[in-house]
Amino acid sequence: MRLLTIETSCDETSVAVTESLLAGDATALQGTFRALAHFTASQAASHAAYGGVFPTLAKREHTKNLPLLLGETLKSVYPKDKPARRQAPGEGLPAAWLEEVCDHEGGEFVEQMMDLLKRFPYAPFDGVAVTYGPGLDPALWVGVNAARLLACGWQLPLWGAHHLEGHLVSACTTPERTQTEGETRILGSVPFPLVGLIVSGGHTDLIALTRWDKREILGRTRDDAAGEAFDKSARMLGLPYPGGPAIASLAQQARERGETLGIRLPRPMLESESLDFSFAGLKTALRRELQKRGFDPEHPVLPKALQRAFAREVEEAITETLLAKLKSAREQTGARSIALGGGVAANRYFKDATSRWAHQQGLALFVPPATLASDNAFMVAMGAEVDIHLSLISPAGTNRLRPDPSAPWPAGSVLRTRNEQEAGESKRKE
Ligand code: KG4
Ligand code: ZN
Repeated sequence: MRLLTIETSCDETSVAVTESLLAGDATALQGTFRALAHFTASQAASHAAYGGVFPTLAKREHTKNLPLLLGETLKSVYPKDKPARRQAPGEGLPAAWLEEVCDHEGGEFVEQMMDLLKRFPYAPFDGVAVTYGPGLDPALWVGVNAARLLACGWQLPLWGAHHLEGHLVSACTTPERTQTEGETRILGSVPFPLVGLIVSGGHTDLIALTRWDKREILGRTRDDAAGEAFDKSARMLGLPYPGGPAIASLAQQARERGETLGIRLPRPMLESESLDFSFAGLKTALRRELQKRGFDPEHPVLPKALQRAFAREVEEAITETLLAKLKSAREQTGARSIALGGGVAANRYFKDATSRWAHQQGLALFVPPATLASDNAFMVAMGAEVDIHLSLISPAGTNRLRPDPSAPWPAGSVLRTRNEQEAGESKRKE
């Protein structure tokens, strides 16, 4: 199946056309995903001044970048011998919701979509997929509205794709040997149970799968996400956004120089057997420690050596917390494989620590390359393809599709409740 996929959930605008071949059922799914075109525009530099993603700015950047990326994508996959136009652009697009899209995204955006339909009247794919959640509401709307207009104009099926499913499925793929990395990804057999840890700027979700359509969400963050902990800590240390790569680089330098902070920041919730996370305490402890040493976390000016030592301690605290919960999840589920996904899965120290443990335990470990770990439409397409193949999602009406900033994981997923976690804890303490 050929899909045009749009991703605008956070601060990356991304478009891909993929060709996928999947076979097998939820217990033994295998296949290939080939990116025929894939373009991503990062807004990280625009958000740097705010020290995090600023939702209205994200929306503005998406409305600017998405028409351009769609144009590039369509140009690169469009057949040379363009078939005759099947219908006038805009034909079949209900006036009421065209107006609604105008109100939301502006008239110029709608005109640009109409122009794309005019320039590319024939759609060389079988459907359109778009991230409908989870993510930032104003940012999600841009992608969803573009996808609705295009799918309706081309009269193609439209699917709302789950962002974290994309991170999870893409993490489990490996590069095709004969291709350059990233172009074609192979989904081989995954040894179930699989424990997935999706760690990004907005999410820290620990999920267990006994087959692709049977999942249990074991835990998630109760406050800040792991990536957010990196970003907020970086800000207090006077480092740029995104904070993860900045902290990782200084932490590595501190380790090479043997520099340490001399105190330990908290490893939150390690004493609890719950598989939830909480990173707000780490942020508070860091703020207190900086203030104790006479620094203002709002306007930090730290000596380089101290900045490096703090960065090391923050990276090690977050890594140890994530790894401890992964170990507990493995014990509780009897997992045979582990998958890491999301922007934080690009962290070398965390990947190496997880890899050493997985190797000792004889577990299969799936980690995406850094280019796939951060947000992009290729990974969203992989999640959508799997969900479509397994009928975990069905086409959405172009009139009806709406973003859901806290979209639940696809069908077949159950959330382990706080009561179940607490029951598990007290049983273990007996
Ligand atoms: O998945 P992603 O690209 O976007 C979201 O869906 O949020 O993740 C972005 C997050 C940011 O918080 C960023 O600081 C973090 O991933 N990140 C890292 C690294 N690279 C990106 N965190 C730690 N180490 C890294 N090398
Ligand atoms: Zn993400």
